[in-house]
Amino acid sequence: MIVVSGIRKSLRTGSTTVEILKGIDFTIARGEFAAIMGASGSGKSTLLGLLAGLDNPTSGTVTLNGTAISNLAEDKLAQLRGRTIGFVFQSYQLIPTLTALENVMLPYELNGSPNVAGEANGMARARQLLSAVGLDSRVDHYPVQLSGGEQQRVALARAFILRPPIVLADEPTGNLDTANGSHVLDLLLHLNRVEGTTLVLVTHDPVLATYAGRRITLRDGLVISDETQVPAQHTPAGA
Ligand SMILES: Nc1ncnc2c1ncn2[C@@H]1O[C@H](COP(=O)(O)OP(=O)(O)O)[C@@H](O)[C@H]1O
Ligand SMILES: [Mg+2]
Repeated sequence: MIVVSGIRKSLRTGSTTVEILKGIDFTIARGEFAAIMGASGSGKSTLLGLLAGLDNPTSGTVTLNGTAISNLAEDKLAQLRGRTIGFVFQSYQLIPTLTALENVMLPYELNGSPNVAGEANGMARARQLLSAVGLDSRVDHYPVQLSGGEQQRVALARAFILRPPIVLADEPTGNLDTANGSHVLDLLLHLNRVEGTTLVLVTHDPVLATYAGRRITLRDGLVISDETQVPAQHTPAGA
């Protein structure tokens, strides 16, 4: 589903070049749930952006669902991204002039619903996703009226609206208290196990990482460990 081959990323700042990623290789299979871990500054967000085609590697290739994205023209890339990937930014990136519900609906308004045969409008799914992350009573709120953790959950709901085969999320529980973190975990596991969504989460949270079947750890732009593990069992709230 995701093949990362020889990825390097350098950035020039002033007169010096900083090597952020120094040669990364891994493959993530369809339906896998992988946690990417590592200290702050190790290159996790940079890597996730490259997986989504939001940024270009200095060298190496990323292949999504059989298509090498590095050589795609911008319009083809945008189309593939829209159909294939839901992305949760570390900084949420909600549209300030849209309500929570409208933010979740936005990808649907822009792309239609290519992955949902017969689903005439995305509204029901948008409300369902917001409910699943505990935001029933916040659907008509604007981002400025929401806490950081609530905005984070809206961003997460938005990533899943089109039932993308792959969801990439950067620290999706970074701002959540225990109860809301548990809601988000329920949703992620449900979507992974029931809908078969391939999940790649960047996380600092060692507990969240125990629910993944795969744990990839970065240090200074390199993979220092890549292990499969038996995922911890999670009992959904209210079950
Ligand atoms: N646009 C940029 N210009 C210069 N350095 C950057 C830029 N983006 C990230 N970096 C540097 O690259 C390293 C990795 O960053 P990042 O991928 O955000 O790490 P992480 O998400 O693991 O904290 C850090 O040292 C960061 O300062
Ligand atoms: Mg980061």
